[in-house]
Amino acid sequence: MAQAAVRVLFVCLGNICRSPTAQGVFEARVIDAGWQDRIHIDSAGTGAWHEGEPPDARATAAARQRGYDLSPQRARQITAGDFARFDYVLAMDEDNLANLRAIAPANYPGHLGLFLDFDSASPVCEVPDPYYGGDAGFERVLDLIEGASAGLLTAIQRQ
Ligand code: 4NP
Repeated sequence: MAQAAVRVLFVCLGNICRSPTAQGVFEARVIDAGWQDRIHIDSAGTGAWHEGEPPDARATAAARQRGYDLSPQRARQITAGDFARFDYVLAMDEDNLANLRAIAPANYPGHLGLFLDFDSASPVCEVPDPYYGGDAGFERVLDLIEGASAGLLTAIQRQ
């Protein structure tokens, strides 16, 4: 019988910069590893301001420079029901995590935590919000997310 897919949800504030980048990068790593039938990936925002919008053009352009296609994605807000569907709910920063803890069921059996915890070599715990900054912020987001994606894939493959 086929093994059930592990389901991973990346979460930031607007779901137009950091979590779509995490989705695009992690999708690429999973495909590289040939695990695309075993890992399902999505992203969401704690806020609803950008619901239905494509990722931020700056995030899409920076990702494309590194070979990641974010263009099919559309923003959505997380719902309480996501905790019934996802095994990993991974926040980009502590604010996102606090907002997620406020809506997560007390008995959520999955992994709710910071995405960068999966990169033991990361100098920081949070992916900084690049929305109000310059292009360098989007490169920094990609650097941090690439590091944590490798660690997350290894952790899932070992579980
Ligand atoms: P994200 O970035 O959380 O990485 O998608 C942001 C996007 C939009 C806003 C803030 C952060 N906003 O205030 O609209």
